[in-house]
This record gives sequence, structure tokens and C-alpha cells, in this order.
Amino acid sequence: MRKFNVAVVGATGAVGEELFRVMEAYDFPIQNLVPLASARSAGEKIVFAGKEHTVLELTETVFEENEVDIAFFSAGGSISEKFAKFAVEGGAVVIDNTSHFRMDENVPLVVPEVNPEDIELWKNTGIIANPNCSTIQMVLSLKPLDELYGIKRVDVSTYQAVSGAGKAGMEELVKQMQAFFAFELDESKKDCFAHQIALNVIPQIDVAQENSFTKEEMKMVNETQKILHKDVQVAATCVRVPVLRSHSESITVTFEDDVDVDVAEVRESLERFENVEVIDDLENNAYPMPIISTDTDITYVGRIRKDVYAQNIVHFFNVADQVRVGAATNSVRIALKWIEMENDI
Ligand code: A2P
Repeated sequence: MRKFNVAVVGATGAVGEELFRVMEAYDFPIQNLVPLASARSAGEKIVFAGKEHTVLELTETVFEENEVDIAFFSAGGSISEKFAKFAVEGGAVVIDNTSHFRMDENVPLVVPEVNPEDIELWKNTGIIANPNCSTIQMVLSLKPLDELYGIKRVDVSTYQAVSGAGKAGMEELVKQMQAFFAFELDESKKDCFAHQIALNVIPQIDVAQENSFTKEEMKMVNETQKILHKDVQVAATCVRVPVLRSHSESITVTFEDDVDVDVAEVRESLERFENVEVIDDLENNAYPMPIISTDTDITYVGRIRKDVYAQNIVHFFNVADQVRVGAATNSVRIALKWIEMENDI
């Protein structure tokens, strides 16, 4: 089997580090690994598959010099904006984990279990975009339901972990909790979030938009429509919670008017879907929670129930590891599908 030269831009970040772990777990066909970060981290060592690799500085020429075939970008939108083109010009396919290219109509936005066919559009620009973490786990549970009954509208509230703000977000929560237990918590000390996150919930993720939704909320609207190829109505409320690294979502789905929801059918269609598992036994206190999904590649769904008033509405709860399902694992799955499609494997 052919092996590939793989670059990871943002190799020292939360998603970058997880990418290495996921590639090890999936036995990714790597010839040469090229970890890239800022000049601050150049020279640091990372261990991959039992071997040490030196972190290089991200430059315009590093992709060509290292004959990179696949470049994962996870160092923020402005870095992708500036450097993705050099990776493409150097001969690589870029799998971009930032929001920079997601809504570009020439760039495919892919969750491999949901819209793998879009990967072939990579030829337009050399870039494949990885959706927002909250969108990924939501469309993984929407797709089987859309196939079952046809979705008209989705109302979602998220409970998003601090890992969405990278390593710095996770450190801020841990430090604030430590300060709390030492009776030293200073509410004015915060870098990542607009307010104290320890022992709090913050109903704002990303910046305000003109329509009073936030940018994160509108990402969930626009990206869901692009991935499902459908003008499904979506209303999101995105909330940051003091959880380390799994996002939860409370989702209400309204199907076409003539649908009469059968919860057993809903459960079965979710159970059959790739990389989705149902945990749904309320009487025995069994349902998805962040402590169940963390460090896994599964989107867990539970609390499935039919609306009390409308026969075409179902409610459920889902959780997934933001760093894995919402970022690293989805990127690696895109790359593996791309390898399969483009190299006739
Ligand atoms: P560095 O550690 O050298 O700053 P996180 O998402 O956890 O916040 O991580 C962000 C990642 O993006 C890190 O690997 C970080 O590298 C990388 N990064 C940030 N700024 C740059 C830059 N100007 N050039 C290259 N990589 C960058």
C-alpha cells in the first residue's frame, strides 16, 4: 500500500496532538511525518509511533521541501488563510480544521459518514474543509433521521466544552478550579473566555452577528445546510460549559408535516448509522454524558422521546468528544476516504 508524507500544522496544539494519537490508532499509512508549528515551538520533539520527530517552523516553502502529500491544518483561520495555498502549490491536499474555507462554494465540507461523495470536489482547490465541531456531531445524528422521515427544522442548544478554545481554554478552566479550591479565585482573571468559566455557563460562543445570533450559532445553520444539501431550518443556542472536552447537544427535530414519529424506528435508524451509538434507558439512569464520550470516536445519542403535542417532532440528546469526533478523528477519516478514492484502494 502506498504511504504518504503527512504534515500537521498546529502540531503542538490540542487538536494537533490528538491527530497524532488518532493516526496511530487508525494505522495511518505514513511515510514521513512533518510536525509544524510557530517559531516558538520549532525544535521541540514529538513522539509518533514510538519515534521522535522534530517540530519545524511553518514557512511558505516547508511543504514543497518535504514533499508533503497530505497537510492537516489546525492552527487557526488566519494561518490557513495565509499558508494553505503554499501546501496546495507544493502538491498536497489540505484538510483544514478551521472555519476559513468552510463556506467557500468551491471547497467541500465533509463528514465522511454523511457526505463522502463531496470529497471528490477537492480537485477544485486542493482543499477539503472539516466542519465545526458542534455541526459534526449534530449532522451525524441528523442524517439517519433525514433519511428516515425527512427533516424540516432543527432547534438545538449546545453545552460546549472548553477544549473548543484549544489548550489555553482547557488550562483556563483547570486553573480557575484550582484557584477556587485554594480560595484564590479572582473573577477578573480570564484570557480565553469573556467571563469566568469555572462553576459558570456562558451563553455566547464566538462573536455577535447582526441578527443577534453568534457566529458559532450561524456556523451550525450554514454548515448543516451545506453538508445535508438541504435548506433545513436550524436555530442554535451555543453555550460554553465547564466541561473539559466533550460537547453535548439537546436537539429537537421537526419532520415533514405528515410524519408520525415512531421512537423505535428513530432509535433503530440511529443504531444502524456508522459511528453513532444509542444509550437510552432513562429508568436505569443510562444516557449519553461527556464522561462517556471523552476519548472515543463515537457520537452517543439518548433521551429519545416523541413530543407531547406534535406527532412530527422528536427530542434527543447527543454527546461526542470535541477534540476527536469534532476535529481530529473527522479529519483523519476524511484523509482515509480521500486516499481510498484518489488512489483506487
Ligand atoms: P505554537 O505552540 O508554536 O504556538 P491550540 O488550538 O491548542 O490553541 O493550538 C494552536 C496551534 O497552532 C499550536 O500548535 C500553535 O503552535 C499553532 N500556531 C499558532 N500560531 C501559529 C503561527 N503563527 N504559525 C504556526 N503555527 C501556529
